[in-house]
Amino acid sequence: MRVLLFGKTGQLGWELERALLPLGPLTAYGPDEFDLTDLDTLRRVILENRPQVIVNASAYTAVDLAEKESDLARRINVLAPEGMAVVARELDAALVHYSTDYVFDGKKNAPYTEQDIPQPLNTYGQTKLEGEQAIAESGAAYFIFRTSWVYGNSPASFVNKVLEWGRQRETLKIVSDQMGSPTWARMLAQATVLALAQGARSPVSFIRARQGIYHLGGRGVVSRLELAQAILRLDPRSQEQIVHRVDAACTADFPTPAVRPLYTALDCGKFASTFRFSLPPWEQALTLALG
Ligand SMILES: NC(=O)c1ccc[n+]([C@@H]2O[C@H](COP(=O)([O-])OP(=O)(O)OC[C@H]3O[C@@H](n4cnc5c(N)ncnc54)[C@H](OP(=O)(O)O)[C@@H]3O)[C@@H](O)[C@H]2O)c1
Repeated sequence: MRVLLFGKTGQLGWELERALLPLGPLTAYGPDEFDLTDLDTLRRVILENRPQVIVNASAYTAVDLAEKESDLARRINVLAPEGMAVVARELDAALVHYSTDYVFDGKKNAPYTEQDIPQPLNTYGQTKLEGEQAIAESGAAYFIFRTSWVYGNSPASFVNKVLEWGRQRETLKIVSDQMGSPTWARMLAQATVLALAQGARSPVSFIRARQGIYHLGGRGVVSRLELAQAILRLDPRSQEQIVHRVDAACTADFPTPAVRPLYTALDCGKFASTFRFSLPPWEQALTLALG
């Protein structure tokens, strides 16, 4: 399987560049090679590589900044994946893309299925939804994996921030009214590879026969507060912590430019029944991630 990866320096992209290797020849690009908003270069790069599968781990993910930079967010989250999908269709290749739990408004209070109607509350979620729609309308074979609360090598991820705060502050205030499914980027990358490997003989027809949106996040539902408590408990350098109290707070206590949905756990049953496996419980993945 010839694979072309975009976004290799991101949390998920970094993991994918390693996890995808067993599938066959892999070419990976990041922002240092070219800017994805340059659609002509994007097209040329795909045509030169002639992949069977394009994996797009790139995205504009600055949720608050997106409220000010909506044009840029739209170019990266809508126009770039749309451009990938259009060239994929021309080449009879397939596109694997990732989307977000933030396409939902968080008012359901039960895990979201693929049948639930998206209703984004912020610009980031809106652009990710438009990206999904552009791919679905392109005619290319595609998988869109909607995931949630991704953590990996980025210092800005919630897991790394809590570890840092635990060494800097004696008390933490963490919101207890945001509920979701934490997802380790490495598990998401490995699940992508295991799913693609099932169609290794004929990847494009395999993807086309199953194309669509799949929810794919860590198993279980947890609040940000409970997640922070687990991170501090599992911290391999807990002797460096100075934190001795973690208090519950409300999302309303921390006003941010982007409104965040409160309940965004994902029901991943469709992925499990299609590919016959699922991601492990979030706490098991966190234990592995923290080592
Ligand atoms: N993080 C989460 O909590 C979360 C939750 C749900 C869904 N998701 C989705 O999961 C996927 C992976 O997320 P992630 O956390 O791995 O994201 P990430 O760490 O922010 O990585 C995004 C990558 O895209 C690159 N990129 C952004 N703009 C670009 C441009 N104009 N040209 C070239 N490259 C560009 C970034 O490069 P720079 O860093 O140099 O900008 C980075 O390498 C995304 O589709 C995201 O929407 C993430």
